[in-house]
Amino acid sequence: MKFFVDTANIEEIQELSETGLLDGVTTNPSLIAKTGKNFIKTIETICSLVDGPVSAEVTATNYKLMISEGEKLSNIAPNVCVKVPLTWDGLKACKALSSQGIDVNVTLCFSPSQALLAAKAGAKFISPFVGRLDDISSDGMGLIEDIVTIYNNYPDTLFTEVLVASVRSPSHVVEAAKIGSDVVTVPPSVLKALVSHPLTEKGLSSFLSDWEKTGQKII
Ligand code: E4P
Repeated sequence: MKFFVDTANIEEIQELSETGLLDGVTTNPSLIAKTGKNFIKTIETICSLVDGPVSAEVTATNYKLMISEGEKLSNIAPNVCVKVPLTWDGLKACKALSSQGIDVNVTLCFSPSQALLAAKAGAKFISPFVGRLDDISSDGMGLIEDIVTIYNNYPDTLFTEVLVASVRSPSHVVEAAKIGSDVVTVPPSVLKALVSHPLTEKGLSSFLSDWEKTGQKII
């Protein structure tokens, strides 16, 4: 499973990319607004820090403007993946941009039927939002299971990767992996939380105190 980080914060992306564990980045207009920085320059910088896909979202809602914005975003760097919302105009834009060889991430997916349409439109990624569904007492992970099942039924015609988004906790990541999702995009805090276990910390501390008693050094 690929790990993307869901942020537009350059410092956080730099720190995480140095681990070698980062496969890509997703941003959205809210995350860009949070940085207070210029959108185009921010995407340019992120693309220089990360080799994998960097999702940059259009803000137009009509097809024609989505195409113009998508083309402009895609020209920033070869690893830009244009993000469009799951609307009819977004699906049409997805089809047109994908036909030009531009990778498209279709976002704001909340149902299996939407995911099916995005795959038909040639999306590189579909982004179902699990956390926002859980927030309204719906079943976020149930949606992921449905989409993975549907896509797996048509391996020769549907090539879209399932990118689990709106992730709130390490257990969302584990569940997504158990289901067989292709990608998960996580806030930096959740990515860091994945490594923590109290028994790891306790075990390491006792190993180190026993080692110190030996008076030895490896180097
Ligand atoms: C995905 O690409 C979105 O940017 C993101 O996962 C949305 O998450 P949120 O529901 O926490 O805002």
